[in-house]
Amino acid sequence: MIEKIKQYKDDFKNRISEVGVGEELRQLRTDFLGKKGLVTQVMKDMRELSSEQKREVGRHINELKNWIENEVKEKTEKLKGASSEGGDRSFDTTLPGRKEARGSLHPITQVMEELIAIFVSLGFQVAEGPEVESDYYNFEALNIPKDHPARDMQDTFYIGGEKVLRTHTSPVQIHVMEKQQPPLRIIAPGKVYRCDSDVSHTPMFHQIEGLMVDEKVTFSDLKGVMNIFVHQIFGEKTQVRFRPSFFPFTCPSAEVDIQCVICSGKGCRVCSQTGWLEILGAGMVDPAVFKAVKYDPEKWTGFAFGMGIERIAMLKYGINDIRLFFENDLRFLQQF
Ligand code: PHE
Repeated sequence: MIEKIKQYKDDFKNRISEVGVGEELRQLRTDFLGKKGLVTQVMKDMRELSSEQKREVGRHINELKNWIENEVKEKTEKLKGASSEGGDRSFDTTLPGRKEARGSLHPITQVMEELIAIFVSLGFQVAEGPEVESDYYNFEALNIPKDHPARDMQDTFYIGGEKVLRTHTSPVQIHVMEKQQPPLRIIAPGKVYRCDSDVSHTPMFHQIEGLMVDEKVTFSDLKGVMNIFVHQIFGEKTQVRFRPSFFPFTCPSAEVDIQCVICSGKGCRVCSQTGWLEILGAGMVDPAVFKAVKYDPEKWTGFAFGMGIERIAMLKYGINDIRLFFENDLRFLQQF
């Protein structure tokens, strides 16, 4: 029997080095000390022994029991320090922790917020309008006649009936003026949609619209606001120029160019050797638009402007393909 006890001690020694803590270790203890355990069985077998033999064997059994309990305790404690749950042996406490993946604002959101902050500092308030528009708000009220090329199926997403996905943020001008009386100064950032896709066009992109209406607002007010905005976004030294243009809802109309941010006006591939880059459309609100919203064109004047946020972001960061903004490639996004 004493031989058996010694054998059990060796067996236990071998097995404890192979198990982890937790369930495995508990099971090992039960195998030896549980109700049907090996050691318990030896104790039962002792009944047949003489009292002297009982004392001798009993001593060995008690030693083994205490030793087993102690081994179990030591093993548990050693691993407890490393893992609060007890863990198991596949848990390597020396491995470095997993890094938390943190997101950041999309570059378009960042530029949009920067633009909003500039115009808010000039007294403009942020307005919003729906992305699904009626023909009336997107075109008609903005003095865009039925046969205007912008209505072509090529450019506009028609979604049945009189509904379109807005092709620009200008309809927000109408919503605001229908609800509010002048004087007013608003900007309207948001998504717009056009049936167009290449390196400089995506079917969805962002615009920011501006509108100021008051008594005696003039073209030079527009010029002043545009200068401040360009200087804040592209730097104080950036030259601005106004080029005559046409929009049905402004008169006179202009396109605003900035000195090429790549070649500083010397002429390069990006500016097609002109030294200038077009960044937005603008003009004085056409009296026909005022009539649509029942403003007196004799009393009120105003200017409006609209620009593509992706275009501003591309020029600001030197990005040559607009589609990069929407591919969600982390290697691109992480740079902002
Ligand atoms: N809505 C015009 C566009 O999308 C931009 C614009 C806005 C022009 C306001 C003049 C005044 O191209």
